[in-house]
Amino acid sequence: MISCPVIITKTKLKVLLAVLLTGTITLVFLSYSSSKYFLDQSLREEDDAEFMRRFDESVEPFLSGTKNLSLEVFDWWKTLQTIEEQTLEYYQTVVEKLLKTFPAISKRPERWRTCAVVGNSPNLKGSHYGRLIDSHDMVMRMNRGQIKSYEEDVGTKTTHRLMYPETAQNLDNITHLVLSPYKIMDLVWLQQAFTTGYVKTIRNIGPYKIQANKNLVMVVNPGFIAYVYHKWLGKRNGSYPSTGFLAVILALHMCEEVSVFGFGADSDGNWSHYWEKYKRKNLGTGLHYGKLEYLMIEQLAAHKKINFFKKSSPNITKDLPM
Ligand code: C5P
Repeated sequence: MISCPVIITKTKLKVLLAVLLTGTITLVFLSYSSSKYFLDQSLREEDDAEFMRRFDESVEPFLSGTKNLSLEVFDWWKTLQTIEEQTLEYYQTVVEKLLKTFPAISKRPERWRTCAVVGNSPNLKGSHYGRLIDSHDMVMRMNRGQIKSYEEDVGTKTTHRLMYPETAQNLDNITHLVLSPYKIMDLVWLQQAFTTGYVKTIRNIGPYKIQANKNLVMVVNPGFIAYVYHKWLGKRNGSYPSTGFLAVILALHMCEEVSVFGFGADSDGNWSHYWEKYKRKNLGTGLHYGKLEYLMIEQLAAHKKINFFKKSSPNITKDLPM
């Protein structure tokens, strides 16, 4: 008799907890979808001028000297992937060495008329975009994006390959190796992989040696990565721009006309690749805010700043020369 109210209280407590938990989950879900909805809506409502206020021509896309990085940006950049306790002076010493080893770094980058940025999404499979991609003056691929066996969908031409040490691969003699550095060690790796061989320090970040044309090496300015993060992605804590999104904004700064291919997560929300089969279904989009990046690419297309090729249309390549 005495224990009965206690049992009722426990049951009530369980029900209350269940209600609270369901409520919290619903609230989190609603606030997530509504924030995405409002973000989506507010972006859609911006006119061309408002949207393009993000574009800042004064930011140098590539490393051209030791002076184009402020201490504030340096402090942000150096913690993206590691907790390297390095100073701005050390960074400058590393960059000075790079400028001596790679003559193209300090040259003014070429301006291109038509550019294709090719991401690694499986939506390229069966797209038949190959000829269309190859018809561009500049074709920027990234990381380990494969060509062999996928020519019909992704093309064969590559003028630039954007990569970082962890995704580095040998290139032919006519392709620009474009390093996207996410830490000082990436710059050190570049220097050593072309000269003495990369000597592993804390961890192995890239191959010992790399084959590519030394005279075509370019390095993305860490200040440009910060600019993309602040201006284009609205400073999302705990994330930083993906190689692909960086490539899109780089192309906006380098080209008169930009076409974007191979972007978009698979049906499970993962950034899987067109040349790989996956067992794991929870890859996600890594340390990148994939949904916002995709939304931004869609908005760039809506504002007619880029051509965004999501799915193949049967007639798209019909007028191209064979
Ligand atoms: O995976 P990886 O970083 O090599 O792919 C290159 C870029 O392509 C990514 O940084 C991302 O911006 C884009 N990507 C995508 N959807 C995928 C795979 C990659 O948008 N399924």
